[in-house]
Amino acid sequence: MSFEAASLERVPVFLRDVRIRLGSRVIQDEMSFRIEDGEFIAVLGPNGAGKTTFLKLLLGQVPYEAGEVLVFGARPRRGNPKIGYSPQFRTLDANFAVRARDLVGFGLDGHRFGFAFPSRKRGKLIDQALEEVRATEYAEAAVGELSGGERQRLSLAQVLIGNPGLVLLDEPLANLDIASAQEIISLVARLCVSRKVAVMLVTHDVNPLLPHIDRVLFMANGRSAIGRPETVITRETLSSLYNHPVDVVEAGGKKFVLGVEI
Ligand SMILES: Nc1ncnc2c1ncn2[C@@H]1O[C@H](COP(=O)(O)OP(=O)(O)OP(=O)(O)O)[C@@H](O)[C@H]1O
Ligand SMILES: [Mg+2]
Repeated sequence: MSFEAASLERVPVFLRDVRIRLGSRVIQDEMSFRIEDGEFIAVLGPNGAGKTTFLKLLLGQVPYEAGEVLVFGARPRRGNPKIGYSPQFRTLDANFAVRARDLVGFGLDGHRFGFAFPSRKRGKLIDQALEEVRATEYAEAAVGELSGGERQRLSLAQVLIGNPGLVLLDEPLANLDIASAQEIISLVARLCVSRKVAVMLVTHDVNPLLPHIDRVLFMANGRSAIGRPETVITRETLSSLYNHPVDVVEAGGKKFVLGVEI
């Protein structure tokens, strides 16, 4: 490990001049930033901007053509136990009949280099994770009986039970009503503080996140910008990112981006 990589061991994400190409298309270019411990980042951008691809880059599932990517000081690799990942499209149907607590327990499998957990310890970890996401009350229910919001909390528990330092959540708020989305957001925000985990959460609506996030990563048109919402979600930054005029208006504490898709 180089001196620099060693000094970045505690840094969840470090990128320098990264270019991602899939087939003939450059999905993202010149990505350079670092994410710190306990940071809560919203990842925004239109369909096809490369949000999911970016998460997969960190997971070692997508290669990079140029630059440097370090996750806790090491090159991305598949099955990294330091990362908790909740994918955009979950095939929960396959788990329809599984009990909620067993689903959460799946998050322990494949961790710790294959060491099995003794069942008492396993049960305790599951209970803790369920409690942390306020899902204790439906621990014994079959997943198929639960609402979208309840399932989303289970997904979060499944991710957290492996005690990751970096959590990647791909559109966890899709299909949730405002109240359920708020609940998930508050839970995630609390976890960033209490567990010091860095969270990157992909969404198409930043407004409910505005009071909680540290920064936004905005991806569009093969490029990205990262910073505080008030500096990134502006007419200047977005117009330059999209390469044509974009308007941002604020009303009632919400931001509305006009003229482009997010
Ligand atoms: N294996 C691949 N080969 C070529 N292109 C790909 C491959 N995988 C994804 N892409 C393309 O990369 C682009 C980025 O896809 P990605 O799924 O990262 O977008 P996204 O920002 O997550 O979009 P959405 O908001 O719809 O989820 C898309 O245009 C997609 O078609
Ligand atoms: Mg996606």
